[in-house]
Amino acid sequence: MSERAPDRDAAGRTGRLWGGGFSGPPDSEIERFCASFSFDRRLLRADVAANRAWVAALAAAGVLPAAEAERIDAALAAIGAASPVEVGAPTGEARPPENAFEDVHTFVEAALAARVGAELAGRLRTGRSRNDLVATDLRLYCKEEIAAIRRRIAAAVGACADLAARCGPLPVPGYTHMRRAQPILLAHLLLAHAARLMRDDDRFAEALRRADVCPLGCAALAGTTVPIDRAALARHLGFARPAENSLDAVSDRDFAADALYAAALLMVHLSQIAEDLVLASAEEFGWLAIGDAAATGSSLMPQKKNPDALELLRGKAGRAVGRLTGFLTTLKGLPAAYNRDLQEDKEPLFDALDTARDSLRVLALVLGHLEPVPARALPDDGGDLLATDLAEHLAGRGVPFAEAHRLAGEAAARARASGVTLRRLPLEVYRAVSPLFDAETIGRLGVQASLERRDREGGTAPARVRERIEATRAWVAGRSAPPGEAVP
Ligand code: ARG
Repeated sequence: MSERAPDRDAAGRTGRLWGGGFSGPPDSEIERFCASFSFDRRLLRADVAANRAWVAALAAAGVLPAAEAERIDAALAAIGAASPVEVGAPTGEARPPENAFEDVHTFVEAALAARVGAELAGRLRTGRSRNDLVATDLRLYCKEEIAAIRRRIAAAVGACADLAARCGPLPVPGYTHMRRAQPILLAHLLLAHAARLMRDDDRFAEALRRADVCPLGCAALAGTTVPIDRAALARHLGFARPAENSLDAVSDRDFAADALYAAALLMVHLSQIAEDLVLASAEEFGWLAIGDAAATGSSLMPQKKNPDALELLRGKAGRAVGRLTGFLTTLKGLPAAYNRDLQEDKEPLFDALDTARDSLRVLALVLGHLEPVPARALPDDGGDLLATDLAEHLAGRGVPFAEAHRLAGEAAARARASGVTLRRLPLEVYRAVSPLFDAETIGRLGVQASLERRDREGGTAPARVRERIEATRAWVAGRSAPPGEAVP
C-alpha cells in the first residue's frame, strides 16, 4: 500500500507534525524506517486520554478558551471511541494504512483536524511535545496491561489451587537432582508453582507502582512554559504523582524494563510449571491425566497425545527473556533526554505483555483439563524413598544423625542389592547392619507416616497442604476483587 499523508496541503502544511524548516519531504524509505504507526496505533486510547487531559489542563490554565477546549475534547472522545485502530479492533476497510502516518500522535492530530479543522487542532500541542506525550501514553498502557495480567495471574493461581484440591492427599515421589528423594503430596508440588506466581503478582504490582508517575507537562526536555497544574493533570490521568525532573521524565523507561523483567521471570516460572506438568502427565510418571481438550495429536503416530500447549508455555520463556535483554541493550549508553532509540520500547513491551497474558490464560485452561490418577500414587511401602525417615528414627533415639545416616544408607544399599523395599528387608539383615534397628523402626516406615511427620509450616503433611490450599484460595479471592478495582 503506498497511500501516504500528502507532502503539503494548500496552506503549506506537511501532514507531519514538523516540516516548516525543511526544503523537501524525507526520503520515503527513511520515513518508513522511522515510522511507528504500524505498532504504536495500539496506544490510541492512551494517547486520546492523555490529549484530553492536556486540553483540560490548557483550559484550566487559561491558555485555551473553554468553548474551544470543549470542541477539541468532544472530537478527541469520538476519535478514541470510534477509531478502527483501537486495540483489538478487527482489520476493516476504514483502518488507515500502516504507513499513512508517522505515529499515533500524528494520526490523532490529523483525525482531530478532520473533525474540528486544522486551525483548532493545531492548538492541541501548545506547550507539550511528543516526548512527554509518548512517555505518558506508554505508562497508561502499561498500567492497564499490568492490571489485566494480575487478574490472569490470580486466575492461574486459582486453577493451581483447584487442581491441588482435586489431587487431595495423593502422594508421589519428590525429586531432587531429578532423582527420587522423599515422598511428597502432588498438591504440594502444584502449590510450589502457585507460590511463584503469587510472587510474580507482587513483582507486577511493583512495576505498576513504578509506572504510576506522570511525565505529561515536561514538554520536550526542559519543562513546559504553560502554567498548568501538573499535580492536577497527573491526578486527572489516574497517576499517583507528576514526574520530578523533565529530562528524566521524557527518557525514563525503567518502568518498561521493570514490566519486562516481571514478564520474563513470570514466563520462566511458566516454563518450570509446564515442564513439571509435561513430566507428571508422561507415561513414565503418570500422576496426572491430560484431557483431550488440552492435548494435540501426531500426524504419524496414532496413539499419541502430546502436551503441545505446555511445551509452548515452556518455550515462550525464551521470547520473554529476549525481549528484556534486547530492550536493556537499547537503553544502555543513551544520553539523558529523549532519543529516537526509545521508540524501540514498544514492540518488546507489547509482545512480552501479550505473551504473558495469553500464556497465563492457557495455563489456567490446561490446569482445568488435568486430573489426578490415584492408581499412580506412590505405594505406602515407599521404595527406598523412606531412607531419610529410617535415619531420622534412629536419630530420634539419640543416635547422632551422621551415624544414623550411614546406617540407613547401608540398609538401603542392602535392600537395593536384594531387590526389596526398605520395609521388606528382613529384620536380620537390618540387625546385621546395626543392633540399633528393631521391629518398631521398620514397622513405622510408611509413606503416609513420612508425610505426616513433615508438619511444620511449609511442609508436605496433608494437614499443612490443606491449609495452604485454603490460604491460596483466600489470596485469589482477595486479588480478584481488590477495593476500587474493576473485575473483568
Ligand atoms: N514515535 C515516537 C516514539 O515512539 C514518538 C516520539 C517522537 N518524538 C520525537 N521527537 N521525534 O518514541
